[in-house]
Amino acid sequence: MIIFTTIQETRNYIISAKKKGEKIGFAPTMGALHRGHVSLIDRAKRENDIAVASIFVNPLQFNDKKDLEKYPRTLETDSEKLQTVHCDMLFSPSVDEMYKAHPQPLPLGGEKNKSQVLPNGEDLGGAFDLGMLDKVMEGAHRPGHFKGVCVVVKKLFDIIEPDKAYFGEKDFQQLEIIRQMVKTQNLPVEVISCPTVREANGLAMSSRNALLTSDERKNAAHIYKTLLGSRERERGTVKEIKKWVEEEINENPFLELEYFEIVNAETLVPVLSFEETKNLRACIAVKVGMVRLIDNISFY
Ligand code: PAJ
Repeated sequence: MIIFTTIQETRNYIISAKKKGEKIGFAPTMGALHRGHVSLIDRAKRENDIAVASIFVNPLQFNDKKDLEKYPRTLETDSEKLQTVHCDMLFSPSVDEMYKAHPQPLPLGGEKNKSQVLPNGEDLGGAFDLGMLDKVMEGAHRPGHFKGVCVVVKKLFDIIEPDKAYFGEKDFQQLEIIRQMVKTQNLPVEVISCPTVREANGLAMSSRNALLTSDERKNAAHIYKTLLGSRERERGTVKEIKKWVEEEINENPFLELEYFEIVNAETLVPVLSFEETKNLRACIAVKVGMVRLIDNISFY
């Protein structure tokens, strides 16, 4: 596996691969890789000629400075894991390389309405107007988060020019927002969604799990159990199910519910009754000690 830290080297590699007609599968990550991440690269390799991963802890998508500082960084073991699934290239730039060495705003497209200026001074000009998609759930609790995700993913797409890009269902809202960005900006990439990889006890794998104590980790498994329990319709109406989830989570002394929503899986708008649509997703965010975890399941 070749590792590049600069955009220029990466571009040279991509251009030469494209000249040979090779198809590129790409999975962007923030590192601290686990089996969930590795499953994306594994699939990218099986479905394309070349598998590319990126590791970049993107400051633009962190609205909590401490969260950014304590985000685990394990580049050496990460690259070992990528090699087990025959990843061909890893792009691992510095913050300066991504945002300072190349300050020119990339052609973002979209309509110019109200201006959106990012912490690095880049003016999005309202190009990433995500409608309701980034107003609910994670969007409501982490202002600016998804705009930061879109900026970095668009930038990475411009650099890597993947034929297919792989994203995990674990971050369902992110997946839908990327799909929306690709659609509204006509980006020439196919977005592939990949199932959530879980620990044996059901806990969704996450880089943040590494920050849990062993007791917290054990109790965090209750999140997925509660999600599965919420799907048993005999519990009643949406309102009643939400109440049941709140009690189930908050009764556990290690867990504190931030939100639980049953949403329309396309618009991400919370439903008030099961009559509205059949395409539903149950999404949850829970604080486990100092760590915030999210999970979701399809709900039918
Ligand atoms: P990160 O949290 O590192 O996740 C990278 C990719 O791995 C995402 O597509 C995420 O959904 C997927 N993933 C994480 N846990 C998973 C699991 N248990 N099973 C399957 N897939 C899983 O998401 C990001 O980074 C960033 O926002 C990024 C897209 C890289 C932009 O900075």
